[in-house]
Amino acid sequence: MSICRLSVVPRIGKPNVAICFLMLLLALTPAAVAVKTTYYDSPRLPTALVPFHYELHLLTRLENTHPIPFSFEGAVNISFFVHKSTDVVVLHANEFSIKLAKTQLQEWYTLQRLAILEFNFNRKLDYLIMKADSYLKQGKYYSLTIEFGRPMSENKRGGYFLAHSTDSLSHQKSWYSLTHFEPQSMRYTMPCFDEPALKATFNVTLGHHKRFQSFSNMKVTAVLAHKALKDYVWSVHETTPLMPNYLLAFSINNLTCTFSQTGGPSPVLFRTCAKSSDLRLTTFAAQMAPVFLEYFEELLQMELPLSKIDQLAVENYPTDAMENWGLVVYSSDLILQTDEPGGPEPSRPRLQALQVICHEMAHMWFGNLISVAWWSDFWLKEGLTGYFEVLGIEHLYPRLGRRILAKYRVMSLMHETESGGIVISSMDIQSNASKTYVYQKATSVLHMAEGMVGHTTFHNAIHRYLYQYAFASSTTNQFLSSIQEGCDRANSLPEFADIKTIMDTWILQSGYPVLNVRRNASLVLTQNHFSFNESRRERWWIPLTYTTQSEQNFSDTRPKAFFPANSLMFNLNVFVPENDWIIFNVQAMGYYRVNYDERNWDLIAEALSRDHQSIHVLNRAQIVGDALFLWNTKRISWSTALNVLKYLVDEDEFEPLMALVVGVTNGFWGVSPESSMNIAKWLSNAGKWYAEFINYTFDQLVFVENNVESAPSEED
Ligand SMILES: *[C@@H]1O[C@H](CO)[C@@H](O)[C@H](O)[C@H]1NC(C)=O
Ligand SMILES: *[C@@H]1O[C@H](CO)[C@@H](O)[C@H](O)[C@H]1NC(C)=O
Ligand SMILES: *[C@@H]1O[C@H](CO)[C@@H](O)[C@H](O)[C@H]1NC(C)=O
Ligand SMILES: *[C@@H]1O[C@H](CO)[C@@H](O)[C@H](O)[C@H]1NC(C)=O
Ligand SMILES: *[C@@H]1O[C@H](CO)[C@@H](O)[C@H](O)[C@H]1NC(C)=O
Ligand SMILES: *[C@@H]1O[C@H](CO)[C@@H](O)[C@H](O)[C@H]1NC(C)=O
Ligand SMILES: *[C@@H]1O[C@H](CO)[C@@H](O)[C@H](O)[C@H]1NC(C)=O
Ligand SMILES: *[C@@H]1O[C@H](CO)[C@@H](O)[C@H](O)[C@H]1NC(C)=O
Ligand SMILES: [Zn+2]
Repeated sequence: MSICRLSVVPRIGKPNVAICFLMLLLALTPAAVAVKTTYYDSPRLPTALVPFHYELHLLTRLENTHPIPFSFEGAVNISFFVHKSTDVVVLHANEFSIKLAKTQLQEWYTLQRLAILEFNFNRKLDYLIMKADSYLKQGKYYSLTIEFGRPMSENKRGGYFLAHSTDSLSHQKSWYSLTHFEPQSMRYTMPCFDEPALKATFNVTLGHHKRFQSFSNMKVTAVLAHKALKDYVWSVHETTPLMPNYLLAFSINNLTCTFSQTGGPSPVLFRTCAKSSDLRLTTFAAQMAPVFLEYFEELLQMELPLSKIDQLAVENYPTDAMENWGLVVYSSDLILQTDEPGGPEPSRPRLQALQVICHEMAHMWFGNLISVAWWSDFWLKEGLTGYFEVLGIEHLYPRLGRRILAKYRVMSLMHETESGGIVISSMDIQSNASKTYVYQKATSVLHMAEGMVGHTTFHNAIHRYLYQYAFASSTTNQFLSSIQEGCDRANSLPEFADIKTIMDTWILQSGYPVLNVRRNASLVLTQNHFSFNESRRERWWIPLTYTTQSEQNFSDTRPKAFFPANSLMFNLNVFVPENDWIIFNVQAMGYYRVNYDERNWDLIAEALSRDHQSIHVLNRAQIVGDALFLWNTKRISWSTALNVLKYLVDEDEFEPLMALVVGVTNGFWGVSPESSMNIAKWLSNAGKWYAEFINYTFDQLVFVENNVESAPSEED
C-alpha cells in the first residue's frame, strides 16, 4: 500500500493517518458480507462499519460507603465510517447493562437521527445487534452513543476490575481500579468493535473521587468539577494516537510514583507507581525503562507518538505485564526490586525484571505502533518483541542477550515434544497453556530468519516494515514480503529461496526437523519430522550452514544451501577430509536438531575433549542438547552420547550447561530409573560446577515448570 508509506517522517507526531489507515483496511478486507437478519452469528464482525474514534466518559465509584458501591457507569460515543450501506449495526457488548432508550445513532454532519427499531443480543458471541429504521449510507460517517454501566468486582474477566493492596500495619484494604483488555475483554466493560485491526483514537474522560488520580494511555489535560456529585471530578485525557482497542487502558488509583524521563530534545516522561510503602522499590524500573526506550528509538530511528509512559506495579495482576500504549502495567513481584545491585551481572530477579521491562518497551513499536491484523498473527508481535527484547538486554549486558536467546531455543525445542508441538501462527487466543512457548519459538524462528538473510538485511527490512505499517496493522504475509523485499534489494538469497515458502514451513507447522548427516563421497542429508506425533510427515525448508575442522569458521551464519521441503534426500557436494569433523547449524541459529553418523560424532567428541573452545559455544550447546535428545529418542547409543558429553566436566560457559540441565531434567529424569542412575552417577563426577550452576545461574523456571522438585542428588 504505497499510499500509506510514511517515507521520510523521522518523527511520527500526529499525522493524519486515520483516513490513510481506513483506505488500507478497506483495500485489505474482502467484499463485505451483507447482514441479512438482525441475528448475526458469524465469528467476525461485519465489515460494513469501520470505527475511527471513541469518546468515552466513565465514572468510577471506588467506595463501599456510597449508596452505590464499587461500580462504573458511562457513555461511549463511537464514530464510524460506512463502508457498505446497511441498516444493521453490530458491535461487541456483553455482561453490563445498557440504557437502551438513551441509545443514539446519528449522521455526523447533518446530525440527522436514526431510530433504532430493535435491539438483539448474541450472548454467545458477545454481539449487540441493532436494526435502524433506515439505511446508514455508504461513504458517510455516523456516531453511535450508548450509556452503560455495571457493578465492579475483582473478577478480571470483566476487563475493568477492582484491585486492592493491604496496608502492612493497619491491614486496611485500599482499593483501586484497573483494566486489562487483551485480547478480548473490552467488550465486557463497554460497547466496542473489539477487533485489533479496527484501530481508532480515544478521548478518555474519567470521573472519580478527588482523593484518587486518573491514569490512562495519555496524560491528563484538565480536571473539572463534577456538577452533580460532591467531591467528584472529571479528569480529561489527551486524545490517543490511532491504536487497536485492546490497548486502551485506564486506572483510578491512589498509588505513589517515581519520576524519570528519556534524554534528548523531546523527552518521554515516565511515572513508575506502586502502593506508597513500595515507592522505594520502583526506582529500578523507573531508571531502566527510559534506557530501553531510548535505545529502541535510536535503533529503530523512530520516535513514538507519546509524551509520557506510566508504569503501574500492581498485585495479583492476571499476567506478567501488559503493554498498553502509554500505560504499562506490571505484576509488582516482577518489577519491584528489593535486592541491592552488585557485581557485573544482574541477579536473577533483576534480569527477569529487565527482560519484562525491555519487552514492554519494545512492544511500544511492535504491537502498538504496528499491530496485528488478527490474533493468528499474535506470534509476530510477540516474536519481534522478543527479538528486540534480546537486543535490548544484549545492549546493556553483552552476552546476556545471547543467553536468553539460547534459553528460549532450548526451552521451546524441548516443549515441542511435550505439548504436541507448537504452531506459532495459530495460537488459540483464549487458552494460555503454551503461550510462553509460542513467544519463545516465535523469537527463535525470527532469529533463524536473521541468520538466513543476514543481520543488515534483516534490520533494514524491519526498518522499512515499520515505516510502511506504522499506525496500521500487518499480517504475517506482509511481514514476510518486507523481508523478501529486503533480500531482493540486497541480493542476499539465491533466486529460488522464497522467504514465504521457507518461513511458512516453520510458522504454520508444529514440531521441527532433525537433520541427519551421513558422510560418504559427498554428504548425504535427510530430514525427519520431529514432534510429539511421530506419524506426521511434514517437512521443512532448512537453511544449511556448516563448518569443518579445517575451516573452523563459526562466524558465517548465512546458508550455504537449502534443504528443500519437497525432497526426501539432499546431496551436498562438499569434500570433508576423512579425519575432519563437520558441524551443521552454525551458532545454532536454525530451529532444528542435527544427527551425524558414528564417525562424525566420534570426531566431534574428540575435538571437544581436546579443546572444546575450538567449537563455538552456541554449537557446543546445540551438540549437548541434541546428543541428550537423540539418545533419549533412541537415535544414537548411550556410549555415543556419553562420549560427546564427557567433555562437560571442563565446560564453564552458560549455554552448554543450560542445555545439559534442560536435557537431563526433562529428557529422562524420572522416566527410567536405570538411565537416571547413569546420569546421576555421571553428574556426580561433575558435582562441583553442577551444584554451583544449579544454585545460581540456572533459571528456576525450568524446574518449576517441569515439576522437578530438587536438583539431582550428589551421592550415588
Ligand atoms: C457523538 O459525537 C459526534 C461527533 O463528535 C457528535 O456529532 C454527536 O453529537 C455526539 N453524540 C452525542 C449523543 O453526544
Ligand atoms: C491513599 O493512600 C494512603 C497511603 O497509602 C492511604 O492512607 C489512604 O487511605 C488512601 N486513600 C484511599 C482513598 O484509599
Ligand atoms: C477529543 O479531545 C480533543 C482534545 O483533547 C478535542 O479537540 C476533540 O474535539 C475531541 N474529539 C471529539 C470527537 O470530541
Ligand atoms: C489459564 O490459566 C489459569 C491459571 O494459570 C487457569 O486457571 C485457566 O484454566 C487457564 N485457561 C485455559 C483456557 O487454559
Ligand atoms: C556411499 O557411497 C557408495 C559409493 O559411492 C554408495 O554405494 C552408497 O550407497 C553410499 N551410501 C549412502 C548412505 O549414501
Ligand atoms: C498424528 O498425525 C496424523 C497425521 O497427520 C493424524 O492423522 C493423527 O490424528 C495425529 N494423531 C494425534 C494423536 O494427534
Ligand atoms: C568466515 O567466513 C566469512 C564469510 O564467508 C569471511 O568473511 C571470514 O573471513 C571467514 N573467517 C575466517 C576466519 O575464515
Ligand atoms: C548458593 O548461592 C548463595 C547466594 O548466591 C550462596 O550464598 C551460597 O554459598 C551458594 N551455594 C553453593 C553451594 O554454591
Ligand atoms: Zn509481549
